[in-house]
Amino acid sequence: MLSLKHVAKSNAFLSRLAIVISTSQSLSSSLSLYPHFYYTASFRSNQNTHFLPASTDFLASSFKDWFKLHNNQLLDRIFGILGAQVDDDLPSRRAADLALSQLGLRLSESFVLEVLAYGSDVLSCLKFFDWAGRQPGFHHTRATFYAIFKILSKAKLMSLMLDFLHNYKTQRYFHRVRFHDTLVMGYAVAGKPDIALQVFGRMRFQGLDLTSFAYHVLLNALVEESCFDSVEVILKQIQMRGLEDGITHSITVKNYCKQNRLDEAEAFLRGLMSEGRELDGHGVSRLVDALCKSNEFEKAGKLVEEFRESGMVPMENAYGVWMRDLAQAGKLDGALEFLRSKKSMEGYVPEVFRYNVLLCRLLRENRLEEMCDLLMEMKEGQISPDKVTMNAALCFFCKAGMVDVALKLYNLRFEFGLSLNSMAYNYLINTLCGDGSIDEAYRVLKNSIDQGYFPGRKMFSVLADALCREGKLDKMKELLMVALQRDLMPSTYTFDRFISALCKARRVEDGYLIHGELNRMNQVTTMNTYFNLIHGFNESKRGDIAAGLLIEMQERGHTPTRALFRAVIRCLCDMENPEKQFYKLLEIQLSHHEPNCELYNFFIDGAGHAKRPELAREVFEMMRRSGVEPNRSSHILMLQSYLKSERISDALNFFTDLRQRRKIGGKLYNAMVVGLCKVNRVDIALDLFREMRDYKIVPSIECYEFLIQLLCSSKKYDTAINLINDLETFGRLVTSFIGNVLLFHSLKTQELYETWIRLREVQDESSYGTSMLGLLVGAFSGRVTVSQHIDNLEELIEKCFPLDTYTYNLLLRRLSRRDMDLACELFNRMCKRGYEPNRWTYDILVHGFLKRGKKAEAGRWLEEMLQNGFDPTEGTLHLMSI
Ligand SMILES: *[C@@H]1O[C@H](CO)[C@@H](O)[C@H](O)[C@H]1NC(C)=O
Ligand SMILES: *[C@@H]1O[C@H](CO)[C@@H](O)[C@H](O)[C@H]1NC(C)=O
Repeated sequence: MLSLKHVAKSNAFLSRLAIVISTSQSLSSSLSLYPHFYYTASFRSNQNTHFLPASTDFLASSFKDWFKLHNNQLLDRIFGILGAQVDDDLPSRRAADLALSQLGLRLSESFVLEVLAYGSDVLSCLKFFDWAGRQPGFHHTRATFYAIFKILSKAKLMSLMLDFLHNYKTQRYFHRVRFHDTLVMGYAVAGKPDIALQVFGRMRFQGLDLTSFAYHVLLNALVEESCFDSVEVILKQIQMRGLEDGITHSITVKNYCKQNRLDEAEAFLRGLMSEGRELDGHGVSRLVDALCKSNEFEKAGKLVEEFRESGMVPMENAYGVWMRDLAQAGKLDGALEFLRSKKSMEGYVPEVFRYNVLLCRLLRENRLEEMCDLLMEMKEGQISPDKVTMNAALCFFCKAGMVDVALKLYNLRFEFGLSLNSMAYNYLINTLCGDGSIDEAYRVLKNSIDQGYFPGRKMFSVLADALCREGKLDKMKELLMVALQRDLMPSTYTFDRFISALCKARRVEDGYLIHGELNRMNQVTTMNTYFNLIHGFNESKRGDIAAGLLIEMQERGHTPTRALFRAVIRCLCDMENPEKQFYKLLEIQLSHHEPNCELYNFFIDGAGHAKRPELAREVFEMMRRSGVEPNRSSHILMLQSYLKSERISDALNFFTDLRQRRKIGGKLYNAMVVGLCKVNRVDIALDLFREMRDYKIVPSIECYEFLIQLLCSSKKYDTAINLINDLETFGRLVTSFIGNVLLFHSLKTQELYETWIRLREVQDESSYGTSMLGLLVGAFSGRVTVSQHIDNLEELIEKCFPLDTYTYNLLLRRLSRRDMDLACELFNRMCKRGYEPNRWTYDILVHGFLKRGKKAEAGRWLEEMLQNGFDPTEGTLHLMSI
């Protein structure tokens, strides 16, 4: 399927590619570039989108036709056979031999050269060379030897090559070729010109001589290896024998260039020209190249023109080198301009590999429109594309938002013998991932692995990320296994993602296996992954494994947080024999670490959260017995342990006991008040609160918040309002939480407001802030009329307390009872001011519209809500079902 994003992106290019969909098939059988179409198409963008799927097919098939010009099926079959022969035992070699013979090849020097030039892997080339040498009626020639030597030396397989030369005499099929020639050439190409010269010396001693071909191979090697003195000697020999030709001249220019004697190179070429001597294009290209490399572009450009005007040199090669050098130096505009002018003035058509240089550079610089033009030019010119061209085109389609076309071509790749390079694989897989076509991406990846490519680490993590995100965990597992088999170690981030995803999918056991795999390879699982695993095992109630992981992560240098300890201890306490499990973990911890206050506190806290206050108390006593002094945190945690389990009298006793033994401060009082509120014991909480005030201890804001919330819920509005006044006597501000509680209750009932009025009459003067708050409560109760304009209400609230998302939700709820337009306006305002809408924000809007029977609007908001990952509440669901 096409995503919207990429429809938009590809439209620009589709119009450039100008598909004449509406006309007859014969007319449209070739894609051509009609500039005028570009304009019309961009004005008809609506129609563009609906013919898109059709045009995808059309584009793909039109490129397929072009790609089919790359017809090397015979060569592909040869290399298919050679590549398939994996083992080097006799039976597999026989099988390959037989298969090759059945192709009925007619071996000739030029055919063998063609095969060797086509092959990309050395081993297959060697196998073919060997096979060809064993065929009756065919003998390797100097040129075929030279070709295989070049291949070996390019692949830096010098030792293999030297072995080859060493075994030379024993092989039957070499004897037809001149022995010494082959040796000299072999050593020359192998980068051993000294040995080559020795062999040459020995053969001269025996009165033998080299052929012209071998002389030039030797000469060239000497230049390459910078043996400039010997170059002069051999050059003389060549001239004396009258073997001098265009190749000699070209190597001579190379010799000058290599020594950076560019002026002499130029003079040499001019000399040849003025003598009217034979000049092949290579000498000129070399000089142009050397000038470019030393950044003399202007001079090089002039030289190209000058030689062209002389009309004595074939210029194709020099043109190609010139464009390549311009492109590589980042002067892509110059290269393209040159191509354009040469094409129109001289009908110059570059060879495909020249085009490729430009294509690859355009791709790299993301100049897709020009790349599109160039591809179309090649296609129209029926220039037979090669592997590089096809790969570049595939990358182009990916980048241009037409991954569908790329994928179609990919699926058809056997029809035109396309094998993807790693760049094209990367583009294709990356783009498919970005597009959400994860399954396709995965399929392409698997094919690429079969082809012997494996993505790099970065690509791997892109795909792994996508697979984890989409919950395709089995595929992810398979991918990981393949990666590990190939010694590709994914990043810890990838492992992390995967294990987390497994834990989330309630497959914590699988996650644990992967973690074990990591351990086996001595890779340390990250803190976060341990966290996810422990939480996963907590969910599946395997406290024992969670505890094991906790200990393991400590051994591996991570420091678990209190929350993690808490989770593990809670989980252990849910198992059979909780005491035993609990003490076992404690014992291990105490034996591994110096007993300290923090560790004991973790266990008190954990036991408290597991609602095991007796275990917490036992740890507390153990702590004292072992001589570690409990600190205030220990006391607070102990109190909280009791309170969580609603063991009120135990908590009070503990508290009283502490109070008798020492002077206690606000922190312990606060913990008691908040803890009591949490278990709904507002009466005792208030007593302690008052005691605190008597001792002139300032209660924490949390105490106020909890108390006011509870008091309002039980309709003790007067006490709540008194607490607010009390708060203000300290000069402290009403928090968002308290403000929200008040607004929430005034929306529900008028009682709060009435109490407020009553109390104000009793007290003489209220402070400015509280009277504003009173006004607000009145407004929310519907007792005070304020302007409906939301700005005013927001401003009023801002004067009383800072707004938060919850406040906005209250405002929205109030507005949604009257005017949905205003509610929507408020929603936009809150977003603009940086408040994140939450589940309730959306729910209020959906609910509001449903109540009014505006199903379409409700539906729109519901969609947005779901997109943001929120579900509607029960009440709203109920309204929807009516
Ligand atoms: C542990 O698992 C229980 C359910 O078994 C869950 O209620 C609790 O929130 C989990 N705790 C943590 C910290 O993950
Ligand atoms: C109690 O001791 C632990 C561990 O040393 C420490 O983290 C904590 O802050 C201490 N609490 C107080 C209130 O000093």
